[in-house]
Amino acid sequence: MKHTDMTMHVRGTSQFVDDVPTPADCLHAALFTSPVACGSLRALDLSAAQAAPGVVAVYTHHDVPGLNQVGHIFKDQPLLAVEQLEYIGQPIALVVAHSQREANLAARLVRATIEPRAAVLDVREAARRGLLHGKKRILENGDLQAAFAKAAHVVSGSLSSGPQEHFYFETQRALALPSEHDAMKVIASAQAPGAFQHHLAEVLGIPMHKVELEIRRLGGGFGGKESTAVWIVAPALAAFLLKRPVKLVLERNDDIATTGKRHAYQYDYKLGLDKDGNILGYEVDLYQQAGACADISPAVLGRSLLHVSGSYRIPAVRATAQSCRTNLPPNNAFRGFGVPQGTFAIEAALTHAACVMGMDATLLKQKNLVVDGDSLPYGVKLELTNAVRCFDTLDQRVNLAARRQAAAEHNRTHADTKRGLAVVPVCFGISFAQTALNQASALVNIYVDGSVAVSTGAVEMGQGVNSKIQAIAAHTLGVPVSRVRVDTTNTSRIPNASPTSASTGADLNGMATQTACLRLRERLLCFAAAQLKVAEASQLTLRDDAVYLGDQRTQWEFAKLAHAAQWARVDLSEHAFYAPPNLHYDMTTERGRPFAYYSYGTSLTEVSLDVLRGTYKMEAVDIVHDVGTSLSESIDRGQIEGAVIQGMGWATLEQLRYAPDGRVLTGVNAYKIPDLKFCPPHFNVELLANSNNPYAVSNSKAVGEPPFVHGLGAYFALVDALYAVRQDKPLPPLPLTPERVLLYLHGS
Ligand code: MTE
Ligand code: MOS
Repeated sequence: MKHTDMTMHVRGTSQFVDDVPTPADCLHAALFTSPVACGSLRALDLSAAQAAPGVVAVYTHHDVPGLNQVGHIFKDQPLLAVEQLEYIGQPIALVVAHSQREANLAARLVRATIEPRAAVLDVREAARRGLLHGKKRILENGDLQAAFAKAAHVVSGSLSSGPQEHFYFETQRALALPSEHDAMKVIASAQAPGAFQHHLAEVLGIPMHKVELEIRRLGGGFGGKESTAVWIVAPALAAFLLKRPVKLVLERNDDIATTGKRHAYQYDYKLGLDKDGNILGYEVDLYQQAGACADISPAVLGRSLLHVSGSYRIPAVRATAQSCRTNLPPNNAFRGFGVPQGTFAIEAALTHAACVMGMDATLLKQKNLVVDGDSLPYGVKLELTNAVRCFDTLDQRVNLAARRQAAAEHNRTHADTKRGLAVVPVCFGISFAQTALNQASALVNIYVDGSVAVSTGAVEMGQGVNSKIQAIAAHTLGVPVSRVRVDTTNTSRIPNASPTSASTGADLNGMATQTACLRLRERLLCFAAAQLKVAEASQLTLRDDAVYLGDQRTQWEFAKLAHAAQWARVDLSEHAFYAPPNLHYDMTTERGRPFAYYSYGTSLTEVSLDVLRGTYKMEAVDIVHDVGTSLSESIDRGQIEGAVIQGMGWATLEQLRYAPDGRVLTGVNAYKIPDLKFCPPHFNVELLANSNNPYAVSNSKAVGEPPFVHGLGAYFALVDALYAVRQDKPLPPLPLTPERVLLYLHGS
């Protein structure tokens, strides 16, 4: 099964929002946003903007007919500012003009009188002052005091990891099409159909059944289109007020400057081990750079908290997590959803410990890997654990000891270049940690010509979820994939859909699709049994596009069957719902079973370092990753490769700079994402063999996010190379850019 969009993507013929032909009377919208990070709006002069060429209207919060709110978890984010200004880029006014260019130019002519106040940008300062989104969370397990008292080695330190720009190729955008009875259709690049439909209805002050959100595919989402509805609701507001189609397309630099990022974190850690390197206790404090509004940050933080132990058995843990409210644009989800950050801290602590103990970090990690029966800090007893299998399979493939020895030999004989290696194991919980979101539905229609249309709540954003759903439907109905079309994601066909995120898209929507197809298959076979005068439908099967009686192909080909069944008044349409069982979590006790299962993997990353210049090269990445029984090997490999490279970018290259006043200084010209030349020339991905997963559709496992964590290997392999030069400094901040490498090597 190949990605169904592949050929169109390569030819550039796939339709994205901007490729949908705009109606002749379509207008364009742009936002005037706050120039200060913190302050009070005293007056707004719209006259120059209103008088600008092409301008049709300029709106403020006074014009919002419904609720002036797009807050995702809490109602703390006005669509258009009222008085409080809390970050640079916060929308204040909405300008509508005949062209996008005219709208953009006119937006600059809005004059705001603002009383500025001192902004808080630092997470630790925010935490000190109690500026938090939600409560501080504390996850405790075991006797930490006793663990540290018993420990032969205790290491501690502070760390930081930086933000990451999503850099989806398709920037935030939507086309709003008003229709009769005050209804609104919105074609958008969005990951959360149900939630965004809800935001739209609330802001417009109309019931949800009047809002239709239509999503064909996204030019990348990566989490950045999951929760922040501003750029989808704003054009709909203008369209609603003007009764004309309105489109909004963010320019790249505006997208970078004003949309949420992966959260930067700061960490304090303390790790205690016995003399043999067994972990005894771990203490970690997470400070999340959430920005001015909660958006989805508390959920991301929760996932970091649940992953502080990484892939390791840790008998005593105390972890705290605070979502710090600062005057930066609200940050949001990004591939991994907090897991890369939670994992970074424990990997760093172990790297630090290995250095102090003079022990090989790989061995230290290996001996502490979780196995069946081990408990995670929130009380889950592990089963079907594949951490050790992934590690051992990788070791067989690459011979870790030999690779390490070769690097050591190189480092002993070369002063100006060093080699560095890092093993990173991954253990990633699959399910929304917010139990309620774990639900999906599918609508499967069979037409009289035997063609099949499937609708689900899943959003295709390049990850191939539609191809997987197509394959599941075709396989279940016993027809070729060419018979099956996966339709757009549309809130009128599939209501209340959870966002496509947390890597659950194929798990949840795939299972709902399978259930609907199984029921249709059963119904068709009952009908065929009557036609064939066979006693039991169970004697029949649907495969190879026809009904089989035992091994015998009958004359009932699928298309003929569909046609005859419809004529006999058999319902050829089926809706199915799926909610994975036995999920629960109690945030007051920090105990429960938040995840249906875990995804595992181990990687080895090798880098070479130029000691004089601080430059480096990614030499090799070898990965063994557990995708269960793959729904599509080519798609899963693509997901693994893409996620790893994206993770390596976060760990090394991608750096956003902020001015002291909170302005983002980095534009598209300075933000460096990995390119083909950055990719390691040796890049091997092996899917773990014989991995079965009873907790997801067809024994598969989710793949979208977990492999991102392997990208941390780039940071730790570089640290390994740096340690070959000097070990007298604390761990450098992530991303480990060449500048930071140079400073580590030659700075004081
Ligand atoms: N792959 C591509 N090509 N584009 C994307 O935007 N998003 C990632 C991942 N892979 C993304 C991607 C993220 S953040 C998630 S949560 C999953 O895909 C979502 O899809 P799934 O649940 O179907 O795996
Ligand atoms: Mo992914 S960050 O859960 O959209």
